[in-house]
Amino acid sequence: MLHHPNPDLFQLSLTINGDLVEREIVTHLRLLDFLRDEMQLTGTKEVCGEGECGACTIIMDGQTVNSCLILAVEAHQRNIITIEGLADIEELTALQ
Ligand code: FES
Repeated sequence: MLHHPNPDLFQLSLTINGDLVEREIVTHLRLLDFLRDEMQLTGTKEVCGEGECGACTIIMDGQTVNSCLILAVEAHQRNIITIEGLADIEELTALQ
């Protein structure tokens, strides 16, 4: 983890739906909450919060992940695609 004067804060840098995003976040923030509350990507839903339902599924570095189960800091320097990003890809595919 990066050295930071406040140990509860983390300088997060990641790619979401093709856009580079940099935000200072609290270290205990779940990835799901980061996407919904900080990024307003509300297509990612919380239903069970326990990794059971898949409503919070995102793609991280090509692997599907339940975003309710991991911390936002675990997505540092990763490539994330949410349902909003998938819709874009599907539209592109349809166009092609
Ligand atoms: Fe159900 Fe994450 S909210 S798996």
